[in-house]
Amino acid sequence: MDNRTELLRQIKDEVIALESSPLYAERVKNGVFPVIGEGDHYAKIMFVGEAPGKNEAASGRPFCGAAGKILDQLLTSIELPRQSVYITNIVKDRPPFNRDPLPEEIVAYGLFLDRQINIIQPKVIATLGRYSMVYIMEKFGLGALLKSISQMHGQTFVGKADYGEINIVPLYHPAAAIYNRADLDKHFEDFKMLKKFV
Ligand code: URA
Repeated sequence: MDNRTELLRQIKDEVIALESSPLYAERVKNGVFPVIGEGDHYAKIMFVGEAPGKNEAASGRPFCGAAGKILDQLLTSIELPRQSVYITNIVKDRPPFNRDPLPEEIVAYGLFLDRQINIIQPKVIATLGRYSMVYIMEKFGLGALLKSISQMHGQTFVGKADYGEINIVPLYHPAAAIYNRADLDKHFEDFKMLKKFV
């Protein structure tokens, strides 16, 4: 097996067995799955969302519900095939009632995201939503540049990963457009920024 595939499989096994996670009991009680991530293990662009929702926990796949439909439209608009990128979340288990992730959940699962980044070594991380933007900007030493997502979306920030330079593009969370279709234009506009990396 390809080394990256093997390392990512180890992460999957560890998350499945993560009894110490604050969300483990909830997962078992509901008979659902953790969502590790999916896509090209050699992807140039990685998308990082917040946490799985109901559909994602039921299937074990990221962004496969309503927010995923919007993400698919956004990817199509810049002719970026979904299977050519890697899609994951910070938190790998669904928080009850889709509440915001707690700081301890971000700490517990962030360690796995850090490892996924170092295995896949993307040139670009597109963050989806505020939690992911804050986590990734801080991780790459850019915390001092953080402002509200409405001030940062669609811009590129350059950070330093263990394996070289990394471009960070904060984007609005696609779920924000589910109830506010008028916002979709802003999402499409921001996605055009990713085209230069394709
Ligand atoms: N929202 C997220 O942040 N991630 C998913 O996988 C689905 C919805």
